[in-house]
Amino acid sequence: MNNTSMNKDIENALDLLRSGLLPDRQALTALIENDDPQTADILVKEADACKKKYYGNKVYIRGLIEFTNYCRNDCYYCGIRRSQSSVSRYRLTADDILSCCEAGYDLGFRTFVLQGGEDPWWNDDRLAALVEAIRKKYPDCAITLSAGEKSRGSYQRLFDAGADRYLLRHETANPCHYEKLHPADLSWQNRMECLRDLKAIGYQTGCGFMVGSPFQTADDLARELLFLKEFQPHMVGIGPFLPAAGTPFEREKAGSAKLTIRLLSIIRLLLPKVLLPATTALGTADEDGRERGILAGANVIMPNLSPAEVRKKYLLYDNKIATGDEAAESVAHLRQSMADIGYQVVTDRGDSLNT
Ligand code: 5AD
Repeated sequence: MNNTSMNKDIENALDLLRSGLLPDRQALTALIENDDPQTADILVKEADACKKKYYGNKVYIRGLIEFTNYCRNDCYYCGIRRSQSSVSRYRLTADDILSCCEAGYDLGFRTFVLQGGEDPWWNDDRLAALVEAIRKKYPDCAITLSAGEKSRGSYQRLFDAGADRYLLRHETANPCHYEKLHPADLSWQNRMECLRDLKAIGYQTGCGFMVGSPFQTADDLARELLFLKEFQPHMVGIGPFLPAAGTPFEREKAGSAKLTIRLLSIIRLLLPKVLLPATTALGTADEDGRERGILAGANVIMPNLSPAEVRKKYLLYDNKIATGDEAAESVAHLRQSMADIGYQVVTDRGDSLNT
């Protein structure tokens, strides 16, 4: 393919995206592989305009509570996988978690995200009781769970207890790629089934993947985009893969912030109303990653509300950003850094526009 016809492909793909249409897998691959700064600028501008049409200059904040780093799974990329014997394990109590919510509420958070490893101690009884307690105390807040794969019955029970949203990254839309990232006891089919169950129950559902995970190709990324368009999630979490010491992938190359940002823009254009965070991993890969993500189509940021003493223990990858600020300081900084780029952090549940 010569340069001119390559540019035509890119132009066609951009035209389709602009008109709300879906480029084919080959055109998406070309757009992903393209490294031209002019195309990058166009994508960022279009994505920003598209987001502003629905969300203006609002940025939603979610209070992230990393409630346990125990995990029964052994995903090859993850810093808190079961085999990481050097990780100091912790589990917040229900009271600890409610205190995080209290501090978060005062700071303007109206969504709490309970994220943790797949920790059997937090069984349905305990988790449902916790969700009920938060629901009762904060009827005006959204409760998001991010606690891995469960049966449909368990998801239903947690929904009935008051959870509104669930985040479960599918990790890759390619089952062969999934097998290279996970041990044999984890199945791509089951993960996808979980996502379908969550949506059917009525959760605002988030899926997502890592950018630049080992063995991932540009064609795999194009498949991710096609999957997102088909699944129509309410939320999409993506971030660069970052190696974690002690894991089988500790020496693998990190994913790039630049490509992550390009994908954020494409995802915004494919799913104009999606809730799209500029993730901690993006902020770790690039000092200005979160701001650049917001300028490129993202509209959510998830500051950490976990107690300072456990934050250093929830390390999915190396060098995770942790300013050492208490939640209050970090929210003040965030409001300012968003204001500096023309965005406003709002106190709002920030529900999906698609429900
Ligand atoms: N680098 C980047 N992201 C990671 N995650 C887990 N380990 C890593 C890593 N090493 C992501 C996975 C998981 C989410 C909670 O964090 O996508 O679903």
